[in-house]
Amino acid sequence: MKLFRSLFSSPGCDEAKAQATTPNPSTHGPTPKLEPPPANAVPAATAEPAPEEPKQAPGPTCVGDTVTCPEGARLQAKVEGRYVTVLRLDGKLVCIDAICFHAGGPLGIGDIEEVNGRKCIVCPWHFYKIDVESGDKYYQTMEFKEGKMQAGEWKSNGVRQRTHKAWEEGGKIYVQLTTYERRPSHADYVESDGYAFDEKCGDRCLNSPPSANKLKVHSVGADGRKPSGQVLRGQYHT
Ligand code: FES
Repeated sequence: MKLFRSLFSSPGCDEAKAQATTPNPSTHGPTPKLEPPPANAVPAATAEPAPEEPKQAPGPTCVGDTVTCPEGARLQAKVEGRYVTVLRLDGKLVCIDAICFHAGGPLGIGDIEEVNGRKCIVCPWHFYKIDVESGDKYYQTMEFKEGKMQAGEWKSNGVRQRTHKAWEEGGKIYVQLTTYERRPSHADYVESDGYAFDEKCGDRCLNSPPSANKLKVHSVGADGRKPSGQVLRGQYHT
């Protein structure tokens, strides 16, 4: 796809067109003197401006080989300048913005926890839990029970982190971004768009040591607390 685009947008095509329409003085003789138009000449009709060509989104980007992302592993990638993390959880590939919407933390290297049966990636900075499939940010309510405040159910604050499409084909893993705009319009804006291209933040994920990408899956109990340091499922991967 990139090759296709580059063929049709390469400066070489424009240069070729410019050469074909520019007369060569050495083969066309002296330049004829231009007479000014008569005073009563009717000005030529103004040409309609050419309609703006629709912006064409880049196609899928290969971010790695299937073998580099087995079950429980993850890939850190930079696609069209945007930092993303691809994870394979329960055999399914998911892709999410690598930089946390909250304050630019390295969300992409966070642990995985299950909240309400949903897989969430936990930001290492302030421990926000983000649904890896939907981008929802979850929080836990507090309820007044038996005379004291207690942790209640988990709810969503809405989608705060942008997710993308990821799949494999022919032994390769591909990502298709859900936006290619650096500043999407208000209707399409997701909070993580604000940090998505920040090199300082993104490089924390991209250059993270293999140990930072080890998968640790915890479950959050009904009381909202995860078992202390207990790894419930999954292996360490690099
Ligand atoms: S930067 Fe604060 S939770 Fe991620």
